Amino acid sequence: MACTTKLLSLFILIQLYSVAASNSHAHGDGHGNVTTSYCHPDQAAALLQVKQSFIFDYATTTLPSWQPGTDCCLWEGVGCDDDISSSDGSVTTLDLGGRGLYSYGCHAALFNLTSLRYLDLSLNDFGGSRIPADGFERLSKLTHLNLSYSGFYGQIPIAIGKLTSLISLDLSSLLIWMI
Ligand SMILES: *[C@@H]1O[C@H](CO)[C@@H](O)[C@H](O)[C@H]1NC(C)=O
Ligand SMILES: *[C@@H]1O[C@H](CO)[C@@H](O)[C@H](O)[C@H]1NC(C)=O
Ligand SMILES: *[C@@H]1O[C@H](CO)[C@@H](O)[C@H](O)[C@H]1NC(C)=O
Repeated sequence: MACTTKLLSLFILIQLYSVAASNSHAHGDGHGNVTTSYCHPDQAAALLQVKQSFIFDYATTTLPSWQPGTDCCLWEGVGCDDDISSSDGSVTTLDLGGRGLYSYGCHAALFNLTSLRYLDLSLNDFGGSRIPADGFERLSKLTHLNLSYSGFYGQIPIAIGKLTSLISLDLSSLLIWMI
């Protein structure tokens, strides 16, 4: 009888574990302790607005994983904080480099991703629009910014020069001038 009860509770535990694991990506901490990080809804909303601003005609992807109601931390090109204990579901990586995306200008919702550390928009086509003058100051945690071959044009916003955490900045091949 005791044995059956043990087996039953083990079974329930396994069931609970698989429910947790399928609802979001589960992370063991190596101590049989399962925590989860789930994309913050504001972050998903901002990403979906950015997606809507793209015209996918010549793109190599339509960002099919970017779907409302799913965990944006698992979307193509998107990453959240690996340190689950401190993660609040904020997006820290946006790597859309080399996807041939086209958009006239960069949607302002991008700048709501204020936890971004890594932003790669290289090898896309932002239609010869200006690099947004306002917005980059909100991305104060950026360590990597790559806008090379992104079809931006014009002056480099002062805000980019004020990103004090930047380790790597690639503006190569842009039609730019410095002030
Ligand atoms: C989970 O891990 C945290 C620290 O990482 C610890 O404080 C907590 O007691 C653990 N919970 C369980 C149920 O083991
Ligand atoms: C961006 O943030 C502003 C305020 O911080 C909010 O009003 C706006 O709705 C947000 N936009 C998106 C697409 O998340
Ligand atoms: C920026 O992106 C381009 C094209 O994807 C790549 O060739 C280059 O190495 C990147 N720059 C840095 C500093 O990583």
